[in-house]
Amino acid sequence: MTDALLHAQGLAKTFEGRRGLFQPASRIQAVADVDIVLARGAALGIVGESGCGKSTLARLLLRLIPPSAGTIRFDGQDITALEEHAMRPLRRRMQLIHQNPSAALDPRLSAEDAVAEPLRIHGVASGRALRDRVAALLAEVGLPSAFLHRFPHELSGGQKQRVCIARALALQPELLVLDEPTSALDVSVQAQILDVLEELRARRGLAYLFISHNLAVVRQVCERVAVMYLGRVVEEGTAAAVLGAPRHPYTRALLGSVPRLGARGMAPAAAGEPPNPAAPPQGCAFHPRCAIAVDACRSSIPPLLAVGDGHHVRCPLSL
Ligand SMILES: Nc1ncnc2c1ncn2[C@@H]1O[C@H](COP(=O)(O)OP(=O)(O)OP(=O)(O)O)[C@@H](O)[C@H]1O
Ligand SMILES: [Mg+2]
Repeated sequence: MTDALLHAQGLAKTFEGRRGLFQPASRIQAVADVDIVLARGAALGIVGESGCGKSTLARLLLRLIPPSAGTIRFDGQDITALEEHAMRPLRRRMQLIHQNPSAALDPRLSAEDAVAEPLRIHGVASGRALRDRVAALLAEVGLPSAFLHRFPHELSGGQKQRVCIARALALQPELLVLDEPTSALDVSVQAQILDVLEELRARRGLAYLFISHNLAVVRQVCERVAVMYLGRVVEEGTAAAVLGAPRHPYTRALLGSVPRLGARGMAPAAAGEPPNPAAPPQGCAFHPRCAIAVDACRSSIPPLLAVGDGHHVRCPLSL
């Protein structure tokens, strides 16, 4: 698919763990064999338990860390091995929103200065035009001009996240990678930020890679969803299919373990212990926790199989 905004194939990342005095060196396969296709203006959700590789995948796709294998294309261009100077003009087109807006903002910059900074650095605007542009960006995320001169410590968590979003929008990106953008916020504030994000996507035609533990949030924001387990995508398809009629035993466990969709919560876990990423189970990594596993599941990693229109599952038993 060449008209995708973001297209990754066979993406992998292995971290070499440091060796302790009495420990052998450990290798962690944080991301393995991941394919991602994100169309312009589309929203893809990434879900899975803590440690399954979601943030690593985000950092790979933004070329913040180099992949161990695979290719990444942005707007048709192969960016897998681009030098930083060649990446620079592309960086303004892809922006990251973090979970914790307090850590993302410089405490010495007012809301106005935080949003103005990227515009100044890239020489996009100055003087009156710059001030007008910043005020318009902050208004677009629901912060009226009364907030322009406030510093991070004078803003609520939701207001800080709005400043981060306005700053990310300043250079008119086409892609936002949102890594748990509402997880640190109160439920009522979460809903407001999600509304802002939905409006922005509709108005600006932005594409979102949306990482979240919260399946209800993903269902609200995303048309498509990929479920990760220990670095691999185990199920992907439309949000309606994956979250409405899940096929993989892990996706079913994730959904079953969320008593009420919409509940705020951390990693909804399947039964049993999450595996040690430094010593992953042989075969299907989920088999030790899987109620329907058979012998074959212990010996080989199943491929992603098509079970419906654009719906793939890494489990032959779910066909
Ligand atoms: N720089 C690093 N060096 C070594 N291991 C790392 C590094 N970054 C991540 N890992 C490991 O890679 C795995 C995936 O981590 P990652 O942060 O991508 O998970 P995650 O799905 O984002 O988790 P969470 O939901 O808790 O944010 C984990 O086992 C983690 O310990
Ligand atoms: Mg993470």
